[in-house]
Amino acid sequence: MDPVVVRPCSPDDLSRLERSAVPADALAHHRERCAMQQRGEARYLLGWSGGTVVGRVTLLHASKYAGVRERGDLWEMNALEALPQGRGVGTLLITAAEELARVDGTGVLGLAVEPSNTGALRLYGRLSYRDWGHGMVLDEWTERDSAGRGCASTGRRATTCSSP
Ligand SMILES: CC(C)(COP(=O)(O)OP(=O)(O)OC[C@H]1O[C@@H](n2cnc3c(N)ncnc32)[C@H](O)[C@@H]1OP(=O)(O)O)[C@@H](O)C(=O)NCCC(=O)NCCS
Repeated sequence: MDPVVVRPCSPDDLSRLERSAVPADALAHHRERCAMQQRGEARYLLGWSGGTVVGRVTLLHASKYAGVRERGDLWEMNALEALPQGRGVGTLLITAAEELARVDGTGVLGLAVEPSNTGALRLYGRLSYRDWGHGMVLDEWTERDSAGRGCASTGRRATTCSSP
């Protein structure tokens, strides 16, 4: 794999993705997250390797979960994904998110993870993320099919926090 560069998605990046053979569900995600960035709600970080997107994470400027927001301000990583997995891309994305949160954010970075996602939990633990200690949050999100059509999904997640 060529070296990976992580940067916020620019309008040019989105145009490039729209012209390329990106699957409809991934393109819908890119568009949605770029729109959030344009509205000032988040940064949308992409990992690029040789002109291909190999990972993404949305850095929300406030937690997605009301119960977390009530307990204070933090920036939160959402929809983290590495493709391929296990090659260091996830770690690079998290490191880039931490740096942005340190420079522009609130000083605390969080994320929510399904308790069954043991591989991801191992990674977060190694990067010093700790359970926030207030139980699970109920997550609601849009699951997209291969045509990009969304349907609502829910699930329980534990949240973890770290000081960037
Ligand atoms: C979780 C994820 C973002 C980690 O990114 P990554 O690039 O695979 O991780 P890195 O290569 O930087 O680090 C490897 C570590 O990630 C963890 N990991 C999680 N899922 C993994 C997978 N499928 N393959 C390999 N490692 C994985 C392991 O803890 C591994 O550490 P180990 O060597 O101690 O086993 C990525 O595996 C992924 O996209 N998974 C599917 C989507 C997902 O679960 N997202 C997280 C939602 S909270």
